[in-house]
Amino acid sequence: MANLGILASGSGSNFQAIAESLENNKLHKISCLICDRKNAYAITRAKNLNIKVYYVSYFNRTKEDAENEINKILVNENCNLIALAGFMRIFSPYFVEKWENKIINIHPSLLPKHPGAHGIEDSYNSGDKELGVTIHYVDKGMDTGPIIYQESFQKGDLSLVEVENSIHALEHKIYPQILIKKLNSIL
Ligand code: GAR
Repeated sequence: MANLGILASGSGSNFQAIAESLENNKLHKISCLICDRKNAYAITRAKNLNIKVYYVSYFNRTKEDAENEINKILVNENCNLIALAGFMRIFSPYFVEKWENKIINIHPSLLPKHPGAHGIEDSYNSGDKELGVTIHYVDKGMDTGPIIYQESFQKGDLSLVEVENSIHALEHKIYPQILIKKLNSIL
């Protein structure tokens, strides 16, 4: 059994999809969710799912200080792998080196196109005919790092809301699958 730590900043729908898949799969465990926003809905989801949740504030302290706290939690919880699920911060090189090849992120565009916080809107407004989702290892950049998996679909006549729904449905399908594969290769 491998232990997955998840970091999220927002709604946590990907966190929930991963939690439900791991619950069915039974082979691996989510050790904890770590949130950098006190009011993130992801915290409510974790409580409802009986998953241990930590709030780590970045307010009034250095990034390194907050990352040290995150690192301590992940080590104490025996995490073998970290999944970012809408965690909207960039780690310092020090943190990335500590967890090299052990941090995975999901992004709602076909990277390297449209990195950043508005991947769906930026893709939608770009004129691209093909839209999609990327799962990749985290390196020192923003939404960069070696790509593990991408899946795409045709934009066609879809509205922005329809595209958002399609992207999220795709994320909820592929992220748990890729993470389980990676967890299987660890233990
Ligand atoms: C997801 O669409 C994820 O791809 C995106 O944040 C959303 C989180 O949704 N991540 C990024 O944009 C990373 N740059 P969720 O909180 O419902 O899982």
